[in-house]
Formats: sequence, C-alpha cells, structure tokens
Amino acid sequence: MLLEIENLKVHYHTRAGVVRAVDGVSLSIGEHEVFGIAGESGCGKSTLIRALMRLVPRTAKVTADRFTFRGRDLLTMPDRVFRRDMLWNEIALVPQSAMNSLNPVYRVGDQIVEAIRTHSTASRRDAESRVAALFDMVGLQPDLAARYPHQFSGGMRQRAMIAMSLALDPSLVVMDEPTTGLDVLVQERILRRLAELRTRIKSSILLITHDISVIAEMSDRIAIMYAGRLMEQAGTEAIFDEPFHPYSLGLQNAFPSIRALDRSLISIPGSPPNLINAIPGCVFAERCPFVREDCRTARPPDLEIAAGHRVACLRTADIAQIRAAAKEKATWRS
Ligand SMILES: Nc1ncnc2c1ncn2[C@@H]1O[C@H](COP(=O)(O)OP(=O)(O)OP(=O)(O)O)[C@@H](O)[C@H]1O
Ligand SMILES: [Mg+2]
Repeated sequence: MLLEIENLKVHYHTRAGVVRAVDGVSLSIGEHEVFGIAGESGCGKSTLIRALMRLVPRTAKVTADRFTFRGRDLLTMPDRVFRRDMLWNEIALVPQSAMNSLNPVYRVGDQIVEAIRTHSTASRRDAESRVAALFDMVGLQPDLAARYPHQFSGGMRQRAMIAMSLALDPSLVVMDEPTTGLDVLVQERILRRLAELRTRIKSSILLITHDISVIAEMSDRIAIMYAGRLMEQAGTEAIFDEPFHPYSLGLQNAFPSIRALDRSLISIPGSPPNLINAIPGCVFAERCPFVREDCRTARPPDLEIAAGHRVACLRTADIAQIRAAAKEKATWRS
C-alpha cells in the first residue's frame, strides 16, 4: 500500500465552534490504481487533500490512528523532511482551480523546469527535455512551453498543471476537481487524456470530484463521502451495481448517466448537516428514508460486506428491500 489512512480527523477550530470537516475517514491506496472520492460540495474532500499535502491552516487539528505513506508516518514527519522526500517526488497535487495556479509572469515551461530542478539534480537541459516529453504526454504542443499562462486556454492550463504534477514521477498524483469549471467539451478531452495517461504512467491517482460520472469513468475504486465521513467504498463496478448505502442509492438515482436511462431523475430531499454540530449517529440519518432509531444514537461502524467493500450503515441486512424501495420516487419524498 502507498497511502494508508485510518480514522483521520481534520477539525477546524473557529470562533463559531469546531467544524468537523473530515471526521474519521479510513482508506488506503495501492500502487498503480485510481482511487476516486465523490461527494457533494462542502463534504470535506479538499480538506482531506489539504491534510495530506500539509496545506491546512493552523486552526485545523489533524489526528489519525494511522496516516502513512509507504509505511512512513506522515503525522510525525517534520515539514522539512516532508518537503524534501514526499512533495513532488512521492506525492504531487493538481489543486482545485489549478487553472489559476500558474504564475502569470513566468513562461509555463520555465515554471515546470524550475519545479524539476528544485526537487531533483537534473540539469537545465534534462529538465527542458522532460518538459517537452510531459507536454506531449498531456497533449500540448511542446513549443507551447515558451508561452505565458495568459496565452493558454483554461483546458490547456489544466493540462499544464497535470504535466507539472507528473514532472518528478511521483508515486501518487492527487487531483482535486480536475475538470470542474471547464466547459463540457474540454472536460471530455481532459478525461480522455487522463484515461490515456493512466496506461503510460506508473503513478497512482487520487481523484476527487463532486461529479460522480467523472469518478465512474476513471476510477478503479470509489469512496462516497458525505458530511466529513465515508459512507461506502468499493470497486467501481460494485459501487454502481451493488450499492449498499442508502446515500449511494440516492446518488445513483440522481445521476441517470450512470445507469437506467429509463428511470426518471430522483433527488435526495434535504441538505447536508452543518458540520459544526457534533452528530452522535449516522450523518445521513436526517435525509435517509430507511432510518431507524438506532441510526441516530451511535455512529454506524464500517462493515466489510465483501472483500474491499465497506459500508457505514446499520441496515445492510435489509438491502434487497431497500434497493427495491430506492427505485420508487415516493420513497424519496420528504
Ligand atoms: N479554513 C477553514 N476554516 C473553517 N472551516 C473550513 C475551512 N476550510 C473549509 N472549511 C469548511 O469545511 C467543510 C469542508 O470544506 P471542503 O472545502 O473541504 O469541502 P469540499 O468537499 O472540497 O467542497 P467543494 O466541493 O465545494 O470543493 C465546509 O463546511 C467548509 O465550510
Ligand atoms: Mg473542494
């Protein structure tokens, strides 16, 4: 395993109270796999990434039972060691709104050359030919390296950032909403490019997005996140063909592109809870049509219902009934 996370919590201490943005997340990512995390806006996806990349503000408290990369403890690793050994070389980030993260006053190619030279012993010439190869890999003409960011379209900048993340051949590339904010055609092109990249690089990818169709297309395994916690995680096929969590079932109904085009759109009534309130039970209970009294009293444990398929729900025994009911519009009426 590359990344192993057990019971990770990232709590922001604010004047209004403690925001439990990530509240006990467990997952692991192996070599050469694409792991997708899907969840609606505000559920804590970027916070999880920020904890991994050490980009959380001082007001955030990060704790975990286990938080390791290739067995090395990330919780106790000094910043200096993290920057030297991990950043770029082991873990690289394509940040949310990556399109705006290039420095406008430097040529795009020079920014990547700079990153390569700071984190390796490569000569300028080697770094330049590396940039040309990376540009080719993400589908940018190598001569574009001499241009400035403002001469790039949004999609081109996103691809340049992806090229940059791959510069040092990291074991894990983290992509936060890599297609969000781009128009649909550009999104499609980036996705196709990413799918192709997968076959050419050995890096694993941690892909984060609220767009479940992007996740479905790209990922080997998927975790469904809600209100700071993971509701369910499994191989991509299992998540779509045999979901166990009522939230996953509700999501499936809301995204007709995945399955059952004949079924009319059903959305989940209500909205996610305020993360400032401590919730003793299941965070989805308020919106769940299948809620039982005991769902509200204690947090449902992560149940491993098949190898690699984990569900945080007390009602997995009734799944046949629940799946049938979830297809009915009336079930989801508030
Ligand atoms: N610095 C901060 N201080 C306090 N609360 C924060 C801070 N950053 C984020 N939050 C809160 O933490 C929660 C999770 O935010 P986060 O940005 O991680 O969600 P997200 O899933 O990435 O959302 P999006 O899809 O909009 O990018 C939100 O309720 C947000 O308001
Ligand atoms: Mg985010």
